[in-house]
Amino acid sequence: MANINKNIDIIKPISLILKKIKPSYLYIILLLPLLALIIELMSGGLGVDPMRKIERELGDTGLNLLIFTLALTPITKLTSFNLIRYKRVFGLMSFFYITLHFLTWLLLDMQLRWDEIIISLTKKPFIVFGMVSLVLLVPLAITSNNYSIRKLNNYWKRLHFLVYPAVIIGGLHYLLMAKTIQFDAVKTLIIILLLITLKFFKLKKIKWL
Ligand code: HEM
Repeated sequence: MANINKNIDIIKPISLILKKIKPSYLYIILLLPLLALIIELMSGGLGVDPMRKIERELGDTGLNLLIFTLALTPITKLTSFNLIRYKRVFGLMSFFYITLHFLTWLLLDMQLRWDEIIISLTKKPFIVFGMVSLVLLVPLAITSNNYSIRKLNNYWKRLHFLVYPAVIIGGLHYLLMAKTIQFDAVKTLIIILLLITLKFFKLKKIKWL
C-alpha cells in the first residue's frame, strides 16, 4: 500500500514535467546523441575505427527511436501520461538518424564505390534488409505532417501501418549483421515483436499509474 502511494506521489510531478515538454523541444533533446557522437569524434574517443563506430551508433539510435515511437501508444494506454503527441518527433528523428546511418555507409564506408555496393547487396542479406526497411520508412517520414494527414484522410492510417514491417525488417537487419547470434540484436527483436503483439490486445489503464 505504502509502495502504491509512493508511486502516486511521483505520477503528478512526472505529468507536470511532461506537460511542460513541448514536442518541439524534443527535437533539440533528440539531437544530443548526435552531438555526443561529434564530441567523441573530435576528442578521438571513437577508437581505432571511428567510421564503423559512427555507423553503428547512428543505426542503434535510429532503431531505438523507432522502437520508442512504437512504445508511446501502449504506454499512453496503460498510464495517465499522454505521450501520443511525441510520436511524430520520435518517428522523424528516428528517420533522421537512420538516414545519417545510411549516408555514413554510402559515403564513408562504401565511398560510393558502386561495384562494392553491388557486391554488398548480393553477398550480405542484412544490407538488403536495411535498404528495404529504409525504403518503407520514406513515405512515413514524408507524410508525417498535418497537411498529409488532412489530404490522405483514412489512407494515412493505412499507410502508416508500414512502420510495423519497417521496424521488424530493421530488427532483422541488426540480427543478421553478425555471423554469430548477438544477444542485443535478439533482445531488440523480442522487444519489437512484443510491442507489435500489444496492438492486438485491448489495453486498460493501470490504476496506480
Ligand atoms: C540502406 C539501408 C541500410 C544500410 C546500407 C545499413 C548498413 C549497415 C551497416 C554496414 C552496419 C554495420 C555492420 C558492421 O559493423 O559490420 C549496420 C548496422 C546496424 N544498422 Fe543498418 N543499414 C541500413 C538501414 C538500417 C535501418 C533502416 C535500421 C533501423 C531501422 C538500421 C539499424 C542498424 C543497427 C541497429 C545496426 C547495428 C548497430 C550495432 O552494431 O550496434 N540500419 N547497418
